Amino acid sequence: MTMSVEQKATNITWHAGEFTHAERSALLGQKGLTIWLTGLSASGKSTIGVALEQTLLNNSVNAYRLDGDNIRFGLNKNLGFSDADRQENIRRVAEVAKLFADACTITIASFISPFKADRDAVRALHEAANLPFIEIYVDASLDTLKERDPKGLYKKALAGEIKDFTGISSPYEAPEKPELHLKTDASSVEECVQAILDYLREKDLLPNKTSA
Ligand SMILES: Nc1ncnc2c1ncn2[C@@H]1O[C@H](COP(=O)(O)OP(=O)(O)OP(=O)(O)O)[C@@H](O)[C@H]1O
Ligand SMILES: [Mg+2]
Repeated sequence: MTMSVEQKATNITWHAGEFTHAERSALLGQKGLTIWLTGLSASGKSTIGVALEQTLLNNSVNAYRLDGDNIRFGLNKNLGFSDADRQENIRRVAEVAKLFADACTITIASFISPFKADRDAVRALHEAANLPFIEIYVDASLDTLKERDPKGLYKKALAGEIKDFTGISSPYEAPEKPELHLKTDASSVEECVQAILDYLREKDLLPNKTSA
Protein backbone atom coordinates (compact mmCIF):
# COMPACT_ATOMS: atom_id res chain seq x y z
CA MET A 1 0.00 0.00 0.00
CA THR A 2 1.42 3.37 -0.92
CA MET A 3 0.27 6.87 -0.16
CA SER A 4 1.57 8.57 -3.27
CA VAL A 5 -1.10 10.26 -5.31
CA GLU A 6 -0.91 11.69 -8.75
CA GLN A 7 0.06 15.37 -8.99
CA LYS A 8 -2.79 16.65 -11.14
CA ALA A 9 -2.06 20.37 -11.45
CA THR A 10 1.04 21.19 -13.43
CA ASN A 11 1.31 24.98 -13.83
CA ILE A 12 1.92 25.62 -10.14
CA THR A 13 4.92 27.07 -8.30
CA TRP A 14 5.74 26.96 -4.57
CA HIS A 15 5.62 30.49 -3.10
CA ALA A 16 7.70 30.68 0.08
CA GLY A 17 6.96 32.99 3.04
CA GLU A 18 9.37 35.41 4.71
CA PHE A 19 10.20 33.21 7.71
CA THR A 20 11.90 29.86 7.92
CA HIS A 21 10.33 27.28 10.22
CA ALA A 22 13.12 27.85 12.76
CA GLU A 23 12.49 31.60 12.73
CA ARG A 24 8.75 31.10 13.17
CA SER A 25 9.40 28.71 16.05
CA ALA A 26 11.79 31.17 17.75
CA LEU A 27 9.29 34.03 17.36
CA LEU A 28 6.40 31.99 18.76
CA GLY A 29 8.51 30.34 21.47
CA GLN A 30 7.19 26.91 20.66
CA LYS A 31 8.12 23.86 18.61
CA GLY A 32 5.67 22.24 16.23
CA LEU A 33 5.28 18.49 16.13
CA THR A 34 2.75 15.75 15.61
CA ILE A 35 1.72 13.29 18.28
CA TRP A 36 0.06 10.38 16.53
CA LEU A 37 -2.20 8.23 18.73
CA THR A 38 -2.97 4.90 17.08
CA GLY A 39 -4.90 1.96 18.50
CA LEU A 40 -8.17 0.09 18.42
CA SER A 41 -11.53 1.74 19.00
CA ALA A 42 -12.09 2.48 22.72
CA SER A 43 -8.39 2.11 23.49
CA GLY A 44 -8.42 5.71 24.74
CA LYS A 45 -6.96 7.83 21.91
CA SER A 46 -9.56 10.61 22.08
CA THR A 47 -9.74 10.58 25.88
CA ILE A 48 -5.97 10.90 26.21
CA GLY A 49 -5.85 13.44 23.35
CA VAL A 50 -8.41 15.67 25.06
CA ALA A 51 -6.65 15.49 28.43
CA LEU A 52 -3.26 16.17 26.85
CA GLU A 53 -4.62 19.15 24.90
CA GLN A 54 -6.17 20.53 28.09
CA THR A 55 -2.91 20.29 30.02
CA LEU A 56 -0.90 21.91 27.24
CA LEU A 57 -3.39 24.76 26.75
CA ASN A 58 -3.50 25.36 30.51
CA ASN A 59 0.25 25.87 30.24
CA SER A 60 -0.20 28.32 27.35
CA VAL A 61 1.19 25.85 24.83
CA ASN A 62 -0.68 25.91 21.55
CA ALA A 63 -2.08 22.44 20.98
CA TYR A 64 -4.82 21.26 18.64
CA ARG A 65 -6.55 17.95 18.19
CA LEU A 66 -7.30 16.22 14.94
CA ASP A 67 -9.68 13.39 15.83
CA GLY A 68 -10.82 10.56 13.59
CA ASP A 69 -14.56 10.92 14.02
CA ASN A 70 -14.47 14.74 14.02
CA ILE A 71 -12.53 14.91 10.75
CA ARG A 72 -15.05 12.55 9.16
CA PHE A 73 -17.78 15.12 9.82
CA GLY A 74 -15.98 17.66 7.62
CA LEU A 75 -12.82 17.33 5.57
CA ASN A 76 -13.28 13.58 5.15
CA LYS A 77 -17.07 13.29 5.12
CA ASN A 78 -16.88 11.68 1.68
CA LEU A 79 -14.82 8.75 2.98
CA GLY A 80 -15.95 5.43 4.45
CA PHE A 81 -14.08 2.52 6.01
CA SER A 82 -12.91 0.51 3.01
CA ASP A 83 -9.14 -0.04 2.88
CA ALA A 84 -8.84 2.59 0.13
CA ASP A 85 -10.91 5.15 2.04
CA ARG A 86 -9.00 4.51 5.25
CA GLN A 87 -5.79 5.11 3.34
CA GLU A 88 -7.07 8.39 1.86
CA ASN A 89 -8.38 9.39 5.30
CA ILE A 90 -4.89 9.08 6.77
CA ARG A 91 -3.19 10.67 3.76
CA ARG A 92 -5.28 13.84 4.09
CA VAL A 93 -4.91 13.97 7.85
CA ALA A 94 -1.16 13.51 7.49
CA GLU A 95 -0.98 16.59 5.29
CA VAL A 96 -3.14 18.61 7.70
CA ALA A 97 -1.10 17.47 10.72
CA LYS A 98 2.07 18.48 8.89
CA LEU A 99 0.64 21.96 8.23
CA PHE A 100 -0.32 22.41 11.89
CA ALA A 101 3.10 21.17 13.04
CA ASP A 102 4.74 23.52 10.54
CA ALA A 103 2.68 26.33 12.08
CA CYS A 104 4.36 25.44 15.44
CA THR A 105 1.35 23.76 16.99
CA ILE A 106 1.50 20.58 19.03
CA THR A 107 -0.80 18.54 16.86
CA ILE A 108 -2.55 15.65 18.59
CA ALA A 109 -3.87 13.23 15.98
CA SER A 110 -6.15 10.45 17.25
CA PHE A 111 -6.81 7.92 14.52
CA ILE A 112 -7.20 4.15 14.62
CA SER A 113 -4.88 4.17 11.57
CA PRO A 114 -4.69 0.37 11.41
CA PHE A 115 -2.19 0.04 8.59
CA LYS A 116 1.53 0.25 9.30
CA ALA A 117 2.34 1.45 5.79
CA ASP A 118 -0.02 4.42 6.17
CA ARG A 119 1.46 5.41 9.54
CA ASP A 120 4.98 5.02 8.15
CA ALA A 121 3.98 7.34 5.31
CA VAL A 122 2.80 9.97 7.82
CA ARG A 123 6.14 9.63 9.59
CA ALA A 124 8.05 9.96 6.32
CA LEU A 125 6.07 13.07 5.39
CA HIS A 126 7.03 14.70 8.70
CA GLU A 127 10.63 13.56 8.56
CA ALA A 128 11.01 15.00 5.06
CA ALA A 129 9.81 18.34 6.48
CA ASN A 130 12.10 18.03 9.51
CA LEU A 131 9.12 17.98 11.88
CA PRO A 132 9.06 15.62 14.87
CA PHE A 133 6.61 12.73 14.60
CA ILE A 134 5.79 10.81 17.75
CA GLU A 135 3.89 7.59 17.24
CA ILE A 136 2.07 6.42 20.35
CA TYR A 137 0.47 3.00 20.54
CA VAL A 138 -2.64 3.30 22.72
CA ASP A 139 -3.18 -0.29 23.73
CA ALA A 140 -5.63 -2.31 25.81
CA SER A 141 -6.78 -5.92 25.62
CA LEU A 142 -9.71 -6.73 23.35
CA ASP A 143 -11.61 -7.98 26.42
CA THR A 144 -11.21 -4.57 28.08
CA LEU A 145 -12.29 -2.78 24.90
CA LYS A 146 -15.41 -4.93 24.52
CA GLU A 147 -16.25 -4.22 28.13
CA ARG A 148 -15.71 -0.44 27.76
CA ASP A 149 -17.48 -0.15 24.43
CA PRO A 150 -18.35 3.56 25.02
CA LYS A 151 -20.05 3.91 21.63
CA GLY A 152 -21.65 0.44 21.57
CA LEU A 153 -19.65 -0.33 18.44
CA TYR A 154 -18.13 -3.66 19.57
CA LYS A 155 -21.61 -4.94 20.37
CA LYS A 156 -22.76 -4.01 16.87
CA ALA A 157 -19.61 -5.33 15.18
CA LEU A 158 -19.82 -8.66 17.04
CA ALA A 159 -23.45 -8.94 15.97
CA GLY A 160 -22.29 -8.47 12.38
CA GLU A 161 -23.94 -5.07 12.04
CA ILE A 162 -20.74 -3.19 11.18
CA LYS A 163 -18.52 -4.47 8.45
CA ASP A 164 -14.83 -3.49 8.37
CA PHE A 165 -14.65 -2.91 12.13
CA THR A 166 -11.00 -2.81 13.19
CA GLY A 167 -10.04 -5.62 15.56
CA ILE A 168 -13.18 -7.62 14.78
CA SER A 169 -13.70 -7.75 11.02
CA SER A 170 -10.84 -5.60 9.77
CA PRO A 171 -7.16 -5.96 10.65
CA TYR A 172 -5.04 -3.82 12.99
CA GLU A 173 -1.30 -3.83 12.48
CA ALA A 174 0.25 -2.89 15.83
CA PRO A 175 3.23 -0.51 15.75
CA GLU A 176 6.54 -2.34 15.98
CA LYS A 177 8.65 0.55 17.26
CA PRO A 178 6.40 3.30 18.57
CA GLU A 179 8.02 6.17 20.46
CA LEU A 180 5.66 5.31 23.34
CA HIS A 181 3.47 2.31 24.17
CA LEU A 182 0.64 3.18 26.57
CA LYS A 183 -1.31 0.32 28.17
CA THR A 184 -4.57 1.94 29.12
CA ASP A 185 -5.90 -1.09 30.96
CA ALA A 186 -2.97 -0.74 33.37
CA SER A 187 -2.47 3.06 33.57
CA SER A 188 -4.89 5.88 34.28
CA VAL A 189 -5.62 8.70 31.82
CA GLU A 190 -3.49 11.03 33.97
CA GLU A 191 -0.56 8.59 33.97
CA CYS A 192 -0.77 8.24 30.19
CA VAL A 193 -0.80 12.02 29.71
CA GLN A 194 2.14 12.39 32.09
CA ALA A 195 4.09 9.75 30.15
CA ILE A 196 3.60 11.78 26.96
CA LEU A 197 4.61 15.03 28.67
CA ASP A 198 7.70 13.34 30.14
CA TYR A 199 8.65 12.11 26.69
CA LEU A 200 8.22 15.60 25.17
CA ARG A 201 10.23 17.15 27.99
CA GLU A 202 13.01 14.57 27.61
CA LYS A 203 13.26 15.34 23.88
CA ASP A 204 13.27 19.09 24.57
CA LEU A 205 10.04 19.60 22.65
CA LEU A 206 8.18 21.64 25.29
CA PRO A 207 8.69 25.36 25.88
CA ASN A 208 10.62 26.08 29.09
CA LYS A 209 7.64 27.99 30.50
CA THR A 210 5.67 24.72 30.69
CA SER A 211 5.30 23.38 34.21
CA ALA A 212 3.49 20.23 33.02
N1 LIG B 1 -6.00 4.99 30.79
C1 LIG B 1 -7.02 5.31 30.00
N2 LIG B 1 -6.82 6.10 28.92
C2 LIG B 1 -7.83 6.42 28.10
N3 LIG B 1 -9.12 6.01 28.25
C3 LIG B 1 -9.39 5.22 29.31
C4 LIG B 1 -8.37 4.84 30.21
N4 LIG B 1 -8.92 4.06 31.14
C5 LIG B 1 -10.22 3.97 30.83
N5 LIG B 1 -10.53 4.66 29.74
C6 LIG B 1 -11.87 4.75 29.13
O1 LIG B 1 -11.81 4.11 27.86
C7 LIG B 1 -12.67 4.75 26.92
C8 LIG B 1 -11.85 5.19 25.74
O2 LIG B 1 -12.68 5.74 24.75
P1 LIG B 1 -12.18 6.72 23.63
O3 LIG B 1 -13.38 7.28 22.97
O4 LIG B 1 -11.18 7.68 24.18
O5 LIG B 1 -11.41 5.70 22.65
P2 LIG B 1 -10.84 5.94 21.18
O6 LIG B 1 -9.54 5.21 21.15
O7 LIG B 1 -10.82 7.40 20.87
O8 LIG B 1 -11.88 5.16 20.28
P3 LIG B 1 -12.38 5.46 18.76
O9 LIG B 1 -11.30 4.91 17.87
O10 LIG B 1 -13.65 4.69 18.65
O11 LIG B 1 -12.57 6.92 18.59
C9 LIG B 1 -13.32 5.92 27.65
O12 LIG B 1 -14.58 5.52 28.09
C10 LIG B 1 -12.34 6.16 28.81
O13 LIG B 1 -12.98 6.75 29.92
MG1 LIG C 1 -11.80 8.53 19.39
